[in-house]
Amino acid sequence: MLDPVSWITENGQIFREFNAEIDSLNGKLRLIDQTLLPEKLVYVELDDTEAIFDAIKRLVVRGAPAIGCAAALGVAAVVRKSTLENASELLELVNNTADSLAESRPTAVNLFWALKRIKKSVAGMSDSAEIRTVLLQEGLGILEEDIAMCRAIGAHGAELLTEGMGILTHCNAGALATGDYGTALSPMYVAKENGINVKVFSDETRPLLQGSRLTAWELNKAGVDVTTICDDMAGQVMKEGKIDMVIVGADRIAANGDAANKIGTYGVAIMAKYHNIPFYVAAPYSTFDLSLKSGDEIPIEQRNADEVRKGCGKLTAPEEVNVYNPAFDVTPHGLIAGIITEKGIIRAPFEENIKKIVR
Ligand code: MRU
Repeated sequence: MLDPVSWITENGQIFREFNAEIDSLNGKLRLIDQTLLPEKLVYVELDDTEAIFDAIKRLVVRGAPAIGCAAALGVAAVVRKSTLENASELLELVNNTADSLAESRPTAVNLFWALKRIKKSVAGMSDSAEIRTVLLQEGLGILEEDIAMCRAIGAHGAELLTEGMGILTHCNAGALATGDYGTALSPMYVAKENGINVKVFSDETRPLLQGSRLTAWELNKAGVDVTTICDDMAGQVMKEGKIDMVIVGADRIAANGDAANKIGTYGVAIMAKYHNIPFYVAAPYSTFDLSLKSGDEIPIEQRNADEVRKGCGKLTAPEEVNVYNPAFDVTPHGLIAGIITEKGIIRAPFEENIKKIVR
């Protein structure tokens, strides 16, 4: 168990769900600092709005479901730390903290979904002790549910996998990007538990290398056969017949099934179509945004030029050259064979079938 997102009490106990054994309600949000992987596995403990905002923005914690879980527990931690006793002042702190954290990253809808849920859980309460308890319960509830949903996604996705299959994935939609198991990587973990071994190819995923730094690290640690390739090698590897299926995660899925995911995913989907390789997206219901009709409405995060210029730790482009750095792209539903959710696999016609399955 990696515990990418958890709650640590003042007595050092670590929790991923709310239960009677929590020895102290005081505590902090605990995260793996993913910027340091694969060189170092370091956990950080946070209870300050600016520090939590910074951790989400800098990708200390990243991946759509993990961001949502961290933000929810982050609000609980900030409110725990506060000495305010007046309930209405405390509710104002809840709302202000949630609104600040919502500004950290724009694309993954799980962030807004989790913050809305945490605000709603205490709305109208008049007892400060109850507010503090309910916030922690709700934050840990979101984390616990996410772990269960990822596990269920794995069980549904594993039904698609057979011994020796080659699977390409892009970015990191694994345990590190969620409460545990992951979305895109969960079928591979469940298949392994069932005695089915697949061969995973992990795109490096420029500019921040989530594929080679994180996906390759966690799959290798779990004993799954993984090979890292540079992003520009994916077409060649498909042409060589090494890939039977693509599975990726998502940051936001519109009502028509268009799916935003890490930049480069769209290109992978086009290459998969050309090579007749089925392209699957794996995501829980918290990643669907049914208020958006199509992927054209999904906001795409633009990130700092230095991630491209200095992405590999040294200058990789001249300082004076313009850099364009969109962090996500949208894969149109026409390129998607199916969306693997905790309730089963959604196939075309997506708009109709998404409505039936997603709450
Ligand atoms: O910028 P990141 O690292 O947060 O981007 C992450 C992705 O694109 C993941 O594939 C997505 O969030 C799904 S995580 C289960």
